[in-house]
Amino acid sequence: MAARLAAEEQLPREELICLIACRDEEVRSALRTAAEAVRKKYYGTDVYIRGLIEISNYCRNDCLYCGIRRSNAAVQRYRLTKEEILACCEIGYELGFRTFVLQGGEDGGYTDAFLEDLILEQKRRYPDCAVTLSLGERSRESYERLRAAGADRYLLRQEAADPVLYGRLHPREMSLENRIRCLWDLKEIGYQVGCGFMVGAPGQTPEHIAADLEFMKKLKPQMIGIGPYVPHRDTPFAGEPAGSLEQTLMLLSVLRLMFPSVLLPATTALGTIAKNGRELGICSGANVVMPNLSPQYAKDKYMLYNNKLRSGAEAAEGLAMLRQSMEAVGYQIVTDRGDCAGWTNGEETN
Ligand code: 5AD
Repeated sequence: MAARLAAEEQLPREELICLIACRDEEVRSALRTAAEAVRKKYYGTDVYIRGLIEISNYCRNDCLYCGIRRSNAAVQRYRLTKEEILACCEIGYELGFRTFVLQGGEDGGYTDAFLEDLILEQKRRYPDCAVTLSLGERSRESYERLRAAGADRYLLRQEAADPVLYGRLHPREMSLENRIRCLWDLKEIGYQVGCGFMVGAPGQTPEHIAADLEFMKKLKPQMIGIGPYVPHRDTPFAGEPAGSLEQTLMLLSVLRLMFPSVLLPATTALGTIAKNGRELGICSGANVVMPNLSPQYAKDKYMLYNNKLRSGAEAAEGLAMLRQSMEAVGYQIVTDRGDCAGWTNGEETN
């Protein structure tokens, strides 16, 4: 099945479900080997880094899995100022970051005018850097305005392409329909778009994951973010088990084979459930890591799940350690905007 997936970049639904459910170590190792070969064909042994800036933990949403959900009264809320965000970029630029990811809850306190002004200033100071936004669902007009200000990429996980699972993970007032509308709007407006889901989200089955993969085949995203579900004690899903390391690694390989040139991060959540999780992710087909450039007080308060990695190689100061650990497994961190292979000046060429 690994060879067929590598050759055809797709499998009929029943076989896809079967592969996702497969726990055979031989199959998994064949997927990993094939994925590494494809990854090297498009990206060599380069690992792109993104400076993650957690700009706010205010959120209007109440997603059942998320630690910063609005009904979690235990969270101390914060919102970074323009100056604080630009200070993170300055530190990051010196360290070699050429992409900044502004991520936050859906915080009504950040108006389009504020974000526009911020992005214009980032682009003025760092014209050689990409700006990625990860700020949730906004109106099409807002996405257009932020794109016009210079934002290059947008991350918005669909979380679950299956409407029943989506409904179980989210409060009634949220809809899969609007989520998908946002993703298509972002694409049409000309962002490089990222989508994704949590592996092992409560109630998730291989069928649900197959639906996510099929949705992504239609969307053709430039980036895909997956990481294990990790419980947070102050959520309704506190007692649910975390997603597994092996399942996440296998899905990274499957994604690399289905989307050969996609930008695929070994996520913080993966590094949280296993000490060498990110290195294993890179060896399974991932080609991006996203070290955290947020001020320490923000890192401590931006708790989507418990035990989030927030020191050592995760902190920007630990970049040297991350460099070393990537080199130890045969890859190297590069100073580069790291656009999707085949993406030039806002256009896809492959
Ligand atoms: N475990 C793992 N990932 C989570 N996210 C939110 N809560 C959790 C959790 N408990 C992910 C969501 C979101 C991204 C920013 O973080 O998929 O899209």
